[in-house]
Amino acid sequence: MVNYNEILETEETLDPSDWEAQRLLAHRMIDDVFSFVSGVREQPAWQPVPEKVKDLLQASVPAAPTGDLTSIYERFKKDILPYRKGSIHPMFFSWVEGNGTITGVLADMLASTMNSNLAIGDHSAVYVERQVIEWMKQWLGFPATASGIFTGGGSVANVTALIVARNAYRDGVAREEGLKHMPEQLVVYCSTETHNCVFKAVETIGIGNRYLRRIPVTAGFTIDMELLRLQLEKDKRAGLTPLCLIGNAGTVNTGAIDPLEEMAAICRQESMWFHIDGAIGALAKPVPEMQDAFQAIALADSVAFDLHKWMYVNYEAGCLLVRDGIAHKNAFSHPANYLARHERGLAGGPESFSGYGLELSRSFKSLKIWMGLQEQGMDKYLRLIRQNIAQAFYLQQLVHETDTLEMLTPVTLNIVCYRYNPGGQDDDQLNVLNKELLMRLHESGVAAPSYTILGGRYAIRVSITNHRTTRADLQKLVSHTVLTGKEIMG
Ligand SMILES: Cc1ncc(COP(=O)(O)O)c(C=O)c1O
Repeated sequence: MVNYNEILETEETLDPSDWEAQRLLAHRMIDDVFSFVSGVREQPAWQPVPEKVKDLLQASVPAAPTGDLTSIYERFKKDILPYRKGSIHPMFFSWVEGNGTITGVLADMLASTMNSNLAIGDHSAVYVERQVIEWMKQWLGFPATASGIFTGGGSVANVTALIVARNAYRDGVAREEGLKHMPEQLVVYCSTETHNCVFKAVETIGIGNRYLRRIPVTAGFTIDMELLRLQLEKDKRAGLTPLCLIGNAGTVNTGAIDPLEEMAAICRQESMWFHIDGAIGALAKPVPEMQDAFQAIALADSVAFDLHKWMYVNYEAGCLLVRDGIAHKNAFSHPANYLARHERGLAGGPESFSGYGLELSRSFKSLKIWMGLQEQGMDKYLRLIRQNIAQAFYLQQLVHETDTLEMLTPVTLNIVCYRYNPGGQDDDQLNVLNKELLMRLHESGVAAPSYTILGGRYAIRVSITNHRTTRADLQKLVSHTVLTGKEIMG
């Protein structure tokens, strides 16, 4: 028999035994954070994790304390902080990653202090989240009747959209019958340049790769509309049912923008769901130069986008908006006694977010957005997005002006793909050369662009999703690329 009374004689908690000592340490941490972020330009854009540190991070789970919090913090500063990914640096240009902000750091600390789980209930965090979703609808031109949900990122926002599209088809027949017992075979369409999270999403919703039509792209890396139309006709003749067309508001490789308006028109004509993966670009919709290209975002049935990309919000913050809020709710709702809303009390309040997505437990992602938008205003973010676009065109100009550099595709948004080409080498040799060059750039700590392959050619890929980048940084990137290229060539 367990003697529970004996256990209860030594009641414990995770609160500090010395609050004052912990408070002093916390003040020091905040001081360090400010010094660190304000001086980040002097730090390397990236540096490798030493083998010694990797070994240290393979210890077995500590059954007992390994030190007090002060010593653990010292270990963090020595072994973890210096070997970060680098996205807070002004010369971090890899993949598509925002920098975060100091306000975001503080907001995350405050959100974490509240420790609000947004699954359900009548509490302030739920109202902040709802407010920010309303702001996002206004930002992207969605109607007030639309619904929205915050997600960990664009990948989850995209799969959530496709679940809604599938479950909205024929009044939710897929929810009841499952795809296997439906008479029709559903088909999804997108371009070959679409992000692989969409491919994963199509598999996840049970449609399968065989019925995901990856339509080839034009020379500008946008979906070939003629081939899309031919494929649609072919599929219909074969008795298949087009379910959804996915447009890109900025592709991951090059920032290419699909002809969204034309795609919206096809969807209306064919009664297909029109989803936009706007993970990279959607937030640029109100920027004057982008309005023509992005106007049709407001016509989509759903749009997925990332605030941790072009709103520079600290990780994580993805979002999905769905034009038909009822369809969104119908896609997920499952009444449960333990989650029923009450008239009053903690279980009162607005509808639970869990009826709009897969997750029940949810962190308070919107506080950092709510604070940031009030501190800076939306116009400041739009100016920064515009600044990044202008910087991408500026970098393109620098590349054009440099004999040994070559653009691999024209800039359309904030992504620049170029390579070092001193002449006299074929594509295979240039691919090896540029891959080596990129790794050396990283190891030098000067800059951290990423890479892709365009038409078989290895590209140094610079995604400027960075509120700290300046023109001088881009000049430095160009001069270092050339210097490193020369070094490799001997
Ligand atoms: C176009 C596009 N879609 C989707 C995603 C996935 O977003 P996340 O990494 O937030 O899941 C990305 C990521 O870079 C992207 O560029």
